[in-house]
Amino acid sequence: MPDAVTAPAAPPAAIHRADYRPPEWLVPDVELDFDLAAERTRVGARLTVQRNGDHDAPLRLDGEGLKLIEVKVDGKPAEHLHAQDALTIPIVGDEAVVETLVEIAPGANTQLMGLYESGGILCTQCEAEGFRRITFFPDRPDVLSRYRVRMHADKILYPILLANGDPVAHGDEEGGRHWAEWTDPFPKPCYLFALVAGDLVANQDSFITRSGRTVALGIWVREGDIGKTGHAMESLKAAMAWDERVYGREYDLAMFNIVAVADFNFGAMENKGLNIFNSRYVLADPDTATDADYDAVAGVVAHEYFHNWSGNRVTCRDWFQLSLKEGFTVFRDQQFSADLGSAAVKRIDDVRALRAAQFPEDAGPLAHPVRPDSYIEISNFYTATVYNKGAELIRMMHSLLGAEKFRAGTDLYFDRHDGTAATCEDFAKALEDASGIDLARFRRWYSQAGTPRVRASLTHHAGEGRARLVLEQTVPATPGQPRKAPVPIPLKIALFDELTGQKYTDRLVLLEEKRQDLLFEGIGGRPILSINRDFSAPVIIETDRKVDDLAFLSARDDNPFARYEAMQQLMLETLVTAVSTGSADHKPVIEAIRQTLTNPAMDPAFIAESVLLPTEAFVGDHMLVVDPDAIHAAREKLRSDIGDELESQWRAAYASSSANRFEYSPAAKGARRLRTVALGYLMAADAEGAPAMALMQFENADNMTDRQGALGNLVNSDTTERQTALGAFYERYQENPLVLDKWFTVQALSMREDTVDKVAALARHPDFLLANPNRVRSLVGAFTANQRAFHHRSGRGYRFLGDMILTIDPLNPQTAARLIPALGRWRRFDETRGQMMKAELERIIATPNLSRDAFEQATKSLG
Ligand code: PHE
Ligand code: ZN
Repeated sequence: MPDAVTAPAAPPAAIHRADYRPPEWLVPDVELDFDLAAERTRVGARLTVQRNGDHDAPLRLDGEGLKLIEVKVDGKPAEHLHAQDALTIPIVGDEAVVETLVEIAPGANTQLMGLYESGGILCTQCEAEGFRRITFFPDRPDVLSRYRVRMHADKILYPILLANGDPVAHGDEEGGRHWAEWTDPFPKPCYLFALVAGDLVANQDSFITRSGRTVALGIWVREGDIGKTGHAMESLKAAMAWDERVYGREYDLAMFNIVAVADFNFGAMENKGLNIFNSRYVLADPDTATDADYDAVAGVVAHEYFHNWSGNRVTCRDWFQLSLKEGFTVFRDQQFSADLGSAAVKRIDDVRALRAAQFPEDAGPLAHPVRPDSYIEISNFYTATVYNKGAELIRMMHSLLGAEKFRAGTDLYFDRHDGTAATCEDFAKALEDASGIDLARFRRWYSQAGTPRVRASLTHHAGEGRARLVLEQTVPATPGQPRKAPVPIPLKIALFDELTGQKYTDRLVLLEEKRQDLLFEGIGGRPILSINRDFSAPVIIETDRKVDDLAFLSARDDNPFARYEAMQQLMLETLVTAVSTGSADHKPVIEAIRQTLTNPAMDPAFIAESVLLPTEAFVGDHMLVVDPDAIHAAREKLRSDIGDELESQWRAAYASSSANRFEYSPAAKGARRLRTVALGYLMAADAEGAPAMALMQFENADNMTDRQGALGNLVNSDTTERQTALGAFYERYQENPLVLDKWFTVQALSMREDTVDKVAALARHPDFLLANPNRVRSLVGAFTANQRAFHHRSGRGYRFLGDMILTIDPLNPQTAARLIPALGRWRRFDETRGQMMKAELERIIATPNLSRDAFEQATKSLG
């Protein structure tokens, strides 16, 4: 961006939570005037500023990449200093009206922060610190302002002009231009500011709140996409009703708009009254979206909507409190999805995501507390720890208080802090005050990083009819936190009689100390331990349960999550044994799967999830030194044995779940899921005719779930069917970017030996667009999740990733930085691989003009 006063690159410095000070100046009112055009946009800002407290500091406004044209104070040109991404203005009294005029270039904004262009649409992204790329402002979440926004733009290119709040006026201007004005009556931090200008059409609907107000709803997309907005609209209305019913939260404006854009760094953004979404979380129809996509749309639409209270009405004091809004809102969207569909399958999905992303993060060089103590670039802290572990903390408090007291606590929290910027401490305090339950020690969960381990050993004294359970916890050391205190761990525990299956006890135990002994009376027969049922705490459980006990639980535990968990544990132990000793007995796993598969009482959706083997990466997480090739070989051997031994059962499952017309219902979803899982086992076993079955499923599918499911299986094979399907998929969907992403992803996830080279070749495909974060993640992000391919012994995967990071960083630092943690796992691998991974991190750090984002992730990953 052209700018006379570009600041020199300063060495990136860390910001500390302990240094928080209230803002020196407040800005109760803001008026913005946008003269919009892609090449050059003029932004006029009129801020009413108020001195906050007793000091004589000048007004200091953040601004990044802005071309400053003029500054006025109380209507007169004013003295000012513009340097180092800040504008400093001395102000004599305690109040003033400060006006600035700047110029920006949205069409050249590849970072996708601030005002940018996506497919001809002008849109904004301000969280966390993007507003400073639009105008000069105290860009921090504890400065809350009322906004009035006027936009001027070409009427043909940008017929629709949207901003936060409600529209107040609009009109035409000379030169084929028009204008619109919006106001938002709710004071908000600038990270929630948004505007959109574009050639958009809306799916319009309405919602009547429980107090009888009508809210106009609009989902805005490009004309050709309007037919794909129905599911998002249904999800939105369901979310609005759910938040009223479960949390007593009603929507507060007359209008709620969602806009879908193709270029977006994250999933979606909760701007007040004007949510802006990555189009992948809005657009869905049976031909282009899988069942998982449908679920994700519902979850993200609900998530952003729920932020209206948990995030917007009550916001965060500073970015260290990010989990205050994100952990809580993820918990809320998880509850919503569980209520709408199968709660057991939803819990399995959520725990899988936590274990795939957060546990490794917590065990590696980037480990940080849910409420971090410092950061260099806040964009790097939109992590699985802040979001998903944060949600688990809320879930634990929910179980400790019980639903009723939890609700009293959230009511008090919303009441007490409405219209203000709050802290994680405020949230805990509100729950405490409303429930009378002491959460003093619980707060350690917010300040300590690392996944706690709980060792559980059960002994039985048959003669006395007594069982004794010893629980011991340790919280591992993490960067900057060598010593940890014990945390309160709520564990749902049950004991079953080994012979009769009778349940002796089922309760919530709170493990508060380092070690705790529990005695159970009246236990005649040998008991089998079921622990951390429903995954009541985000911990790693270690037990000495035998194979038979796990098999028993996988078939007979009355808690579905615990059944799933026992099966996973059984599979995991089998795989770990196979990898470390070269062989393992596959029979117990095969028998447990047979039991599950042939149990007519079980939901097919649940069966499909529980018969899946843990991923190669998950097995790796349980080895001292990850051996990607041995893990791959062991897992494939087990997969093929399961397919072989149970061939007729898989064929039966396949047949019984086929042949129905598309329907989006829990039963139909379950059937589709099981069908593709069954196909996977048949393919793995090289069963007669399996590739032809897959191709038939691919060609005859009337929905994307079946089609992608078939393709995802074929892509692992060495068959002509593979080529046929990949070619046909490309031909059919090359004009649809979201589906083309899937085409890249299935190939990046292929378990074939040549994937590393195929991926490098795909990065040179004309449809591989570096500027589009979805496309980058679809290929490069997916590839890093493919353990065997990414960790190819040649090191070509690491080199490829290093090249990608360095190519993307100058364009879009956030997207580049998010690819770095994959290299940060170097300590987990053998010396040769580890050195090659380190070498890539060092090459990144040595690159001139590296972004702050990439600098922080690479230096911390090197450890
Ligand atoms: N706050 C967004 C959410 O709902 C995430 C986000 C962060 C989006 C930063 C864009 C930029 O989780
Ligand atoms: Zn969020």
